[in-house]
Amino acid sequence: MSEQFSSAERSTFYHIVESRRDVRAFRSDPVPEDVLFRILNAAHHAPSVGLMQPWNFIVIQDPATRAAIKSVFVRENDRAAAVYTGDRAALYGSLKLEGIEEAPINLCVTSDRTRSGPHVLGRNTIIDTDLYSTCCAIQNLWLAARAEGVGVGWVSILDNDDLRRLLEIPPTVEPVAYLCLGYAQEFLDEPELQRRGWATRLPLSDLLFSNRWGNRLPLPLSDPTLLGKRPIG
Ligand SMILES: Cc1cc2nc3c(=O)[nH]c(=O)nc-3n(C[C@H](O)[C@H](O)[C@H](O)COP(=O)(O)O)c2cc1C
Repeated sequence: MSEQFSSAERSTFYHIVESRRDVRAFRSDPVPEDVLFRILNAAHHAPSVGLMQPWNFIVIQDPATRAAIKSVFVRENDRAAAVYTGDRAALYGSLKLEGIEEAPINLCVTSDRTRSGPHVLGRNTIIDTDLYSTCCAIQNLWLAARAEGVGVGWVSILDNDDLRRLLEIPPTVEPVAYLCLGYAQEFLDEPELQRRGWATRLPLSDLLFSNRWGNRLPLPLSDPTLLGKRPIG
């Protein structure tokens, strides 16, 4: 395997990372099976603790199941909305935070906490490393989908006990993500929550420490937000 990528390949990679978005508005045209399987295969190539590969992907097509999951979202979203008051409540209420019934594909990504038996290399102390591994798979999936022009939206305003019941997930398996996939109506050039004034991307320089917590590490770059637009040497 080649150890170096060309500058064009690296630029493409950073461009994909930067232009990945959480998508909640989908076109109705279906995602071809080969595209879906390439995306799932990218997820399956994620790193995992002890090569545990704890993930499963439940593809949910049944309209009744989706409707039931949508009603869990509505209930949990009402509970979340009640946390806010005034302008913040109005803004929250105007946000579209899921595409469960419109998206051509719904996927529940799970983590089997017992896969590979009781002793997994690297998981003796930090038991949640299986969940971290599953999140790595989800990020691979998200980036591969973006490379394919497919949008992904993560819906976390749900209740895992309801997901377990509706999707018949066994007790030893944890639902980690509920994802909506489909061709995006558009890919915004910034997070929608930033565009709508809910939150902004933090400067990387605020997040970097040297040797110990709180000790700032100066950045050599003038504008680290320009991920894909910086020339690559
Ligand atoms: C763990 C996780 C849960 C999320 N849950 C939701 C959600 O329930 N609804 C939603 O609209 N977006 C959800 N998002 C998307 C984030 O709001 C989004 O990633 C963030 O605002 C940055 O935007 P971007 O992904 O377009 O760059 C979630 C993202 C993550 C990583």
